[in-house]
Order: sequence, then structure tokens, then C-alpha cells
Amino acid sequence: MSGSAGVVSASADVAVGAAIAGEATAYVHLNDLGHAYTPGDFLFRHLNATLVAGRIHALIGPSGSGKSTLLAILAGWLEPTEGAVERHHADAMNWVPQLPLGVAGRNVLDHVALPMLVAGVPREVANGEARRILGQFGLEDVEDHPYGSLSGGEAQRLMLARAAATKCDLLLVDEPTASLDRNSARTVIAHIRGLANRGCVVVVATHDLELRDACDDVVDLADAQDRGIDEPAAGNSATGNSAQGEAAS
Ligand SMILES: Nc1ncnc2c1ncn2[C@@H]1O[C@H](COP(=O)(O)OP(=O)(O)OP(=O)(O)O)[C@@H](O)[C@H]1O
Ligand SMILES: [Mg+2]
Repeated sequence: MSGSAGVVSASADVAVGAAIAGEATAYVHLNDLGHAYTPGDFLFRHLNATLVAGRIHALIGPSGSGKSTLLAILAGWLEPTEGAVERHHADAMNWVPQLPLGVAGRNVLDHVALPMLVAGVPREVANGEARRILGQFGLEDVEDHPYGSLSGGEAQRLMLARAAATKCDLLLVDEPTASLDRNSARTVIAHIRGLANRGCVVVVATHDLELRDACDDVVDLADAQDRGIDEPAAGNSATGNSAQGEAAS
């Protein structure tokens, strides 16, 4: 076990620099983050990382190390026990859960059109845009199929298509390839890359080595185990120097 956990890349400095220059580059800074569901029993601690737009950050660690917990903290659904999440131009959040959550009887088109309808977009415009997005995700042939009839890969792609239908500064994806065959997994990875390229900060919790290797950076929760309250965290990834978490690409 060593030093500060987390990861940063040179692009974190670029993002922070761009933000200081007034450009709306999204980034999320994890500042000495720690979480314990039971007082004193930390899942992870002293986690420092800067997650930047346009990059895919793999969140790895053994089962039970706190990956989904950290995603919930990043989403703002859970208060961390220690430290803080600082969001910069990263207000619009999308969450893609491990087990895709759709409405069984609702068709594919409506899953993508609904967020736009809720935002006040007229039905015809929303349907047109939803069809365009479904085409990008290879789902045009199943637009009128009920969600409940989709394969696992189709359901994952639909969840990502829905994320693409709304403004997305921060995309949190939990184990997207866990139940997919390799080909479906590769398609999903390519779509995640497409969403990152739109300027989204992407964090993907995964056990999948191929997905991890396709990511730009790695945050390894195994490096963020509790080292005891008196042991200081070494280094600070906000400065661009992190002891842990090398780029995986
Ligand atoms: N609301 C909760 N209250 C108490 N303990 C919880 C709660 N949610 C999760 N835990 C526990 O915290 C630990 C971390 O859970 P989490 O789901 O974040 O792990 P994970 O790294 O995502 O695991 P996996 O790889 O299996 O998905 C687990 O031991 C889990 O049982
Ligand atoms: Mg999990």
C-alpha cells in the first residue's frame, strides 16, 4: 500500500488551465475522499483524483471495495464521510446502472424521446432526434420493440443512447460489460468513447480488463484502503502528481 490513491493525467492540468482561462471544460476533483458505512470502517480513504472531460476513467478494485459507492458519491446521491467532490461545469449527470433499468412495456423510441419530452421538446422533434440517436447506437431496427424484449447488449446500448439524448457533463457507468459477450462489449465500449468525445467526464466501474485497457486513466480503489488516521496521504493528484493509478492506455 502506498501514498495517495487516485489518478491524474496531464490533461487534468489542461482542463484546470482551460477552466481558469474561462473555458467551460468539465472536470471533477476528488479531494481526499473517504467513505465508511460503519463509523471507522473505511471502504476507501485519502482518494485524490481529477477526472476530466473527454477522457474515460476506469474505476477498478475488488468486489466490495466501494466502486458503486464511489459512483453514488460522484452522482451526489451519497455524502462522503470524508473529503469532498468538487464539480466544475459538470452539472448534468447521467447514470447507467449495471443492470439496465428500463420500463418493460415501453418501447425503445420512447425511452430515448422521453427525457427530451420532459425537457419540453415537442413530440415530433423529440421522436426525430431519438431516431437519429438510435441510428448511431445501432438500434434503429428495434425502435418499436418493448424494452422487455431487448437483449442485454441492446439494453445497455439503449441506456447509453438515452444518456446521449440529454446534456451530459458527467457520465457514470457501472459495470457496463459485465453480462455481455465480447462483441457486444466492444460495441458498448465504442459508444462510451463516443460519449466521452462529446466532452463528457466519463467514469466506468469495471472488472473487465479489456474495458479497463480501453480507458484513458485508472482509479484503483485497492490503492485507497484505510491506512490509519495518522498516516498522511502522499502526493496530490490535483497537482498532476499521483503516486497511483497509471494511464491504462
Ligand atoms: N447502503 C449501504 N449500507 C451499508 N453497507 C453498504 C451499503 N451499500 C453498500 N454497502 C457495502 O459496502 C461495500 C462496498 O459496496 P459497493 O457496492 O460499493 O462495492 P463494489 O466495489 O461496487 O462491488 P462489486 O464489484 O461487487 O459491484 C460492500 O461490502 C457492501 O455490502
Ligand atoms: Mg458495484
